[in-house]
Amino acid sequence: MAKGPNRVPVITLDGPGGSGKGTIAQRVAQALRWHLLDSGALYRLVALAATHHGVALDNEASLKILAENMDVQFAVDDPSQPIRIVLEGENVSKEIRSEETGKLASKVAALPSVREGLLQRQHDFREAPGLVADGRDMGTVVFPDADLKIYLTASVEERAQRRFRQLQDKGLSANLADLKAAIQSRDEQDMNRAVAPLVPADDAVIIDSTDMTIDEVFAELMHHARNKGLVS
Ligand code: DC
Repeated sequence: MAKGPNRVPVITLDGPGGSGKGTIAQRVAQALRWHLLDSGALYRLVALAATHHGVALDNEASLKILAENMDVQFAVDDPSQPIRIVLEGENVSKEIRSEETGKLASKVAALPSVREGLLQRQHDFREAPGLVADGRDMGTVVFPDADLKIYLTASVEERAQRRFRQLQDKGLSANLADLKAAIQSRDEQDMNRAVAPLVPADDAVIIDSTDMTIDEVFAELMHHARNKGLVS
């Protein structure tokens, strides 16, 4: 981690699924023209690569090798659009967002050797002029020296509603009670695991987005970034 004049600044954005982190992280990265790390995508990719290669989700040694060596590209075609994610030559941008992959990702994310295997990849995203890192342990474990740490949360009900609307917009059917139960079980797994559990860093700014619009959350975050001298 470079110190002094060559040190690359980092803003971390942690929080539970459905809190709006992904959307906000992308907007902030675009506004600052900084790089973006979607660390959840890395855990989803390990789960997907394991499925493709027939690796069992409790085979920690093989999962670590996959985490370290899987061939992944994050292609930014247009900064206002979601990143295109290519795993071993195949565009998996849609596949990694499925509920099923999310469930498997949460399982592999609980394994210490998988987290270790992904650490270097995550550090490699830290390039000038800066990095916005989105995940669960960005401010606590991966970039503890970050310049600004945000913990973005929202009530389970609100997060389930957001997911419900997202699926409806895509023309997919969904059941609100099922979505709420899935979010609760994912929270449980992410918050109670032994390694790098989802908790706010001691020095994080906590933003509860339950009654806020995306624009309001974005404005509040940029206000903190300005106060820290991160906006030129
Ligand atoms: O944010 P997401 O839904 O794409 O994350 C997928 C899973 O990966 C989620 O269950 C939590 C886990 N994860 C993690 O443990 N640490 C991170 N930094 C990011 C995601």
